[in-house]
Amino acid sequence: TSFVNGNKVVVEEPAEEDVQDYKDDSYTDDYEEQYDEEPEEHQANIDTTTPILRKRKKHKKMSQFSHHHVKEEMTPEEKKQVFDKIQTERKNLPIYAAREALLKEITQNPALVVVGETGSGKTTQLPQYILENFLQDENTEDRIPTVAITQPRRVAAVSIARRVAEEMGVTLGSKVGYSIRFEDCSDPTDTRLKYMTDGMLLRESQIDPLLSKYTVIILDEAHERTLHTDILFGVIKGIMKKRSDLKLIVMSATLEAKLFSDFFDAAKIVYVSGRQYPVQIYYADEEQLDYVDSCITAALQIHLDESAMSPSVSTGDILVFLTGQEEIESVSKILDERARLLPPECLKLLVCPIFANLPSEKQMEVFDPAPPGCRKVILATNIAETSITINGIRFVIDSGLVKSKAYNPKNGLEILKVCNVSKASARQRSGRAGRESAGKCYRLYPEQSHQGLEDYTVPEILRCNLCSVILQLKSMGIKDIMKFDFMNTPSSSGLIKSLEQLLSLGALDKKGDLTPLGTQMSQFPLDPMYALTLIQSQKMNCVQEVLSVVSMLSVETIFYAPQTKRVEANKNKMKFASKTGDHLTLLRVYQEYQAVKKNSNASELQRWCQEHFINYRSMSKVCEVRQQLKEHLESMNIGLTSCGRDLNQVRRCLCAGFFMNAAVRVPNKRMYKTLVSQLEVRIHPSSVLSDPFPDCLIFNQVIMTSNQYIRDVTAIDSAWLPELAPSVYRGHLLDQTNIMVEEQKKAELAKKEKSKTNAPKTFSVQRSL
Ligand code: CDP
Ligand code: MG
Repeated sequence: TSFVNGNKVVVEEPAEEDVQDYKDDSYTDDYEEQYDEEPEEHQANIDTTTPILRKRKKHKKMSQFSHHHVKEEMTPEEKKQVFDKIQTERKNLPIYAAREALLKEITQNPALVVVGETGSGKTTQLPQYILENFLQDENTEDRIPTVAITQPRRVAAVSIARRVAEEMGVTLGSKVGYSIRFEDCSDPTDTRLKYMTDGMLLRESQIDPLLSKYTVIILDEAHERTLHTDILFGVIKGIMKKRSDLKLIVMSATLEAKLFSDFFDAAKIVYVSGRQYPVQIYYADEEQLDYVDSCITAALQIHLDESAMSPSVSTGDILVFLTGQEEIESVSKILDERARLLPPECLKLLVCPIFANLPSEKQMEVFDPAPPGCRKVILATNIAETSITINGIRFVIDSGLVKSKAYNPKNGLEILKVCNVSKASARQRSGRAGRESAGKCYRLYPEQSHQGLEDYTVPEILRCNLCSVILQLKSMGIKDIMKFDFMNTPSSSGLIKSLEQLLSLGALDKKGDLTPLGTQMSQFPLDPMYALTLIQSQKMNCVQEVLSVVSMLSVETIFYAPQTKRVEANKNKMKFASKTGDHLTLLRVYQEYQAVKKNSNASELQRWCQEHFINYRSMSKVCEVRQQLKEHLESMNIGLTSCGRDLNQVRRCLCAGFFMNAAVRVPNKRMYKTLVSQLEVRIHPSSVLSDPFPDCLIFNQVIMTSNQYIRDVTAIDSAWLPELAPSVYRGHLLDQTNIMVEEQKKAELAKKEKSKTNAPKTFSVQRSL
């Protein structure tokens, strides 16, 4: 029953790794939106021409079958039934047996490390136990504990908070709430369990250095070792010296708990035993040329091979690990189409995507059990690796890939790229198939490749740009970054490079102290260069416009292109296009959206968006973000000036903020060379910039797929660089802007460059560290 020739997954002996021995150090990032990006090459390879033979019957709405979640449309009795069922489910979770023991340890220890397999109930249950225990034992209502629970990912924070609110029978945002960047769904006095991204708790500590509102802080998913969680380890360790009443719980899905325990002065480790059934591992017989296509083939193959024809049997769902939103969306469409070709007696395939930007109602759908006669195929980023647990999975398809950050301290550039996962990650992923019964995991790469994988994922702090956190730490009064209590100290070259960058941005002075500009920058919930751009807009009288551009950049996928209407969608995008590049294009979209919004109701606005292939939900989000940033500006007494039609001001302002990300064109090529980091890059195909390409431009980020691409680009006048950033663009860097006109200088320049180190050293901060 092989679907497509050539990609059949070969069954081999199960690999050594019995999933029982759980070890993991998997990893991703808070800024999930950046990860929802994919090599577009894969889209080209996807065959969308499969004829549709038979119209598929629409699935009944899932909620009609679901008894797992409370739904708005349910009657009070139905709600009660579900509520009772949830209470039973809670008691069946592995962690329940350890409830009393855990509570005792929490009372007795200031810091505790809790280790338990993914899905055992740590994140959803432990915070509730703490609250229940208090309410039941003590009648001092004035000191009801407030618990902060950090999550590396936004989707996890939101979906888990929603689930816990449901379990407690309260409205989300009251007793249980969440807080993620640009979205606070909590009540300052009422909320007792607050699920939040680690980045948000770090921000709160900037304003409230003792985190005094919290009685208990739970650093969850500690094994992921995200940048913000790592910084929080140090920050909270400091707070604990000053606050003896604070309780800290570090929760992790890996057995490597000693590292955490050691860091917190030999904190006690508690193991929560879980259930784990054997998972048989299968490897592909050879490297897959197109893993996206292989995922699709494997999913259909499993579906057919594994009792798809006998809908009465409990079949188990399929979980596929992919790398980003666009990839997931295209796989989702293709699977939907191919599933229509299945014989009518076969189980229906229900495709459920899950990624950061999925609207939250949709995020909740993946947790619903498949309706009778259906099997779910869940397409996930590595959010499903440990952060969230979806019940009912028996098959895992692992692409073996993850989108992650890489940082080169030599040139100071952080790059997003699709990388191989670590062995620990692969093990964790396969474990998802064995939570409720024996399962199978199909790794889409040969066994030899697996042996070549790194054992553990390197902590993010060791492979990312540190500007943003250094700025935050400095604003918290931590002067000597080198002496900060890191669990893993970043390389001094990485630290110095970031300090240098902050110096160039004007956020630090030569002594390494925060400047007034740096203080202002640190107050924005934005990366330093974005914050700088926003602040500079005041000088250039274009605050309104830059505010719109920065807000537009804070969400992914403003434009969407349905697989079948790519050409049309692209044409439409070009209607908004500015010759100068992406930023003014985004500004135009925002302005036209606002104009339509003024003169029409919500459904008309939605229709306008649809007609223009603009993501309505993203636009609503942009408006929220803009409002919040506007309030920040107002609180700093920055007036909302506008440059009207003089949009050059906006580009100059972008140049004043992103001058570190300037690039010049390589003569006669479609290639650019970044000035500070000396990297050869191409303009990302998603850009509106086309021939004739500008000689000089600035960009927001570098992403590596088959090529090194720069994204979100705007043409600038090279003369602006020395004017707006004289400290960086003095001397030889500027000479490079002439290479377009003075071909003969090329060779000479190359020689010059060789004799220099990678980046220009216009200053030195080493001594003052
Ligand atoms: O944190 P840990 O991995 O130990 O487990 P958890 O996230 O607390 O999950 C416990 C249970 O809650 C699992 O069976 C999940 O499937 C379930 N859950 C759910 O049904 N809906 C959610 N939105 C979140 C969790
Ligand atoms: Mg968890």
